[in-house]
Amino acid sequence: MSEKKQQVSRRQFLNYTLTGVGGFMAAGMLVPMLRMAVDPVLKPSAAGDLQNVGLAVEDITTEPQRVDWKIDQVDGWYESEVGKTAWVFRNENDEILALSPICKHLGCVVSWEGSEEYPNEFFCPCHDGRYYKDGTNVPNTPPLAPLDEYEQKVENGMLYLGMAKPRGEA
Ligand code: FES
Repeated sequence: MSEKKQQVSRRQFLNYTLTGVGGFMAAGMLVPMLRMAVDPVLKPSAAGDLQNVGLAVEDITTEPQRVDWKIDQVDGWYESEVGKTAWVFRNENDEILALSPICKHLGCVVSWEGSEEYPNEFFCPCHDGRYYKDGTNVPNTPPLAPLDEYEQKVENGMLYLGMAKPRGEA
């Protein structure tokens, strides 16, 4: 019985070695690139989180008050701190309403009683846009939809706000 010796030629040995090392190096480069491309997509978004805006519920009255707070925004690989604003008050049913100040016409900033001509309304100075106290747009003024309303919750007596959501066409 003759044992057949398995011989590996120098050429085969070099082929195996170079293929193995090349594959290893390619994987070493591809894995971080894939991770970089996919990682932001897999990270949980902070967009849906509600944040304590520093306003005690007992301090919310029927008079709209401006509330400013900051959120950490992650946009892909870019992290930044973004300022947010809401007009907060209690409506006639004693429910808390937190309205976005962004005008639904072209995006200027509205103010409560921003015009002496229109008391008890939100007013947009850009094109004289007007909204009733509940945020619905006054007919025959430029805005065509009510002010967005923030998602909200109350925890330990403090107001938490999240995303501003459209309320549909008026
Ligand atoms: S942007 Fe507000 S009325 Fe035009």
